[in-house]
Order: sequence, then structure tokens, then C-alpha cells
Amino acid sequence: MVKSLPCRTKMTLLSNHGIAARPLGLFLFLSHDEENFVMTPHDRPDRRRFLTQSLAFGSALFTTSGVFADELTKTPKQTEGPFYPDKLPLDTDNDLLIINDGITPAVGEVTHLTGRILDSSGNPIRNTLVEIWQVDNNGAYLHSGTANASKRDTHFQGYGRFLTGSTGEYYFRTIKPVPYPGRTPHIHFKIRKASKELLTTQCYIKGHAGNDRDMVLRGIRGPKAMEALMVEWTPIKNSKIGEYAAKFDVVLGMTPEA
Ligand SMILES: [Fe+2]
Repeated sequence: MVKSLPCRTKMTLLSNHGIAARPLGLFLFLSHDEENFVMTPHDRPDRRRFLTQSLAFGSALFTTSGVFADELTKTPKQTEGPFYPDKLPLDTDNDLLIINDGITPAVGEVTHLTGRILDSSGNPIRNTLVEIWQVDNNGAYLHSGTANASKRDTHFQGYGRFLTGSTGEYYFRTIKPVPYPGRTPHIHFKIRKASKELLTTQCYIKGHAGNDRDMVLRGIRGPKAMEALMVEWTPIKNSKIGEYAAKFDVVLGMTPEA
């Protein structure tokens, strides 16, 4: 069900230089288990042992060259498609729901989309520009050749960008993608470092019924590569407007210069 978004200003999303507010990002990086975890006297010893073992295992990984790198699946590239905006919006920040100082938000299921940009060894990549673009809730792109142009939601930004910091994290507030004729729901990504394009890809809603029929998605070889593009859309507990959290890490197949 689509719910409208209460009026909020962009100030809630931005801190320094258009970078997302950290407290919100930190909250969203908690898994459900971490959020709900309550330690009781009964399970405390087991929990302590588990943490100790985890730390030891983690140390071994980071001190053994190349082991961690083998664990990461590189994010497969995907077609850019014909709908990268042919004219960028007036507002290009990481909040796709509100354009500039507008008071009317876009229609759609609000999604807090986060993730990290990593190199093939799992190191965060900073100063990397993450661009996303997607259709609005009526299936229209921010492009002069889009289908459903007459129904386009003029309050939806359609495109946004975010420059990663030292942790390699990015954050967008956007809508849950919807299908349009011929495609299962997806969000387009382009990753740039300075003027160089490092990767163009798309992410998908894990378990969506349309995924099996999508020709772009079916072009991916191997279950691991396919899985690397699948994203869980998780309802945020106690959200009054039915918001979602979605996390998509991008692993690049190269180590750009710092
Ligand atoms: Fe698309």
C-alpha cells in the first residue's frame, strides 16, 4: 500500500556538504537481530563465547592476505539502459522524495537505501560518486523518451547522487521501485571516481515475482552473481508510514587510487 510522506525538510538528510546524517545511517545498518537482541542471564555465557569466537575468526581473516578477498563477489555490471536522465534535475542530492525546498513529497513507498562501495578486498572506497536513477511510482523515468510521461510524478527527483566518505557508505531516501512494461523493479547505479566510470549496474528486490521473467536479470551468469544484485526490502519496525530499509553493497573489481 502506498502511503504519503509527512512533510519534512531536506535538513533531516543533510549534514556537511550533502552527506547523509550519520545517526540515521548507523541505525539502518543494524540488522533485525541486532535491533531485537536482548541478553538474558540464561544465554549470557553462550553469547560471550560466540562474540569471542567471532573476533578471533575476524582477526585471522584480516591477517591472512588474500583470504578475505576470496569471500567477496564482485558486483556484476548491467546495462545502463536508455533512460539515464537526458537532463539532470535542478536538485541532484540524495533525497529523491523532495525537490529543493518543495513541500509536496513524491508518491511511493519510502525506502532508506544504504550500502558501501568496496574494493575487491573489502576495503571502503572513499570520494566515490554514487549515482542512482529509477522510475517514479507510475513507471516514468526522468527522461524525455520515457513511457507514461503524462503521468510522471513531478515531485519525484528520479535521480540522485552521493559522494562517499572514509567508510565508503552511501545513503539515499527514495521509493521502492515498481515494475514497468518489460522490466522487473530495479534501481540503476553508476559509480564514478573523478571522471572515470567504474561500474554501471542495477539492483533488484529479492524474491520479487517478476525477477524470473526479466531479460536483463536473466542475462547474468551464475547464482552468486545474481545474488549479488538482490536486495532485501525490510519494513522498518514502528514506522508510521510503512518505510523500508534496503542495503546494497557494491564490490568493485579493481582498487582505484586513493
Ligand atoms: Fe530501468
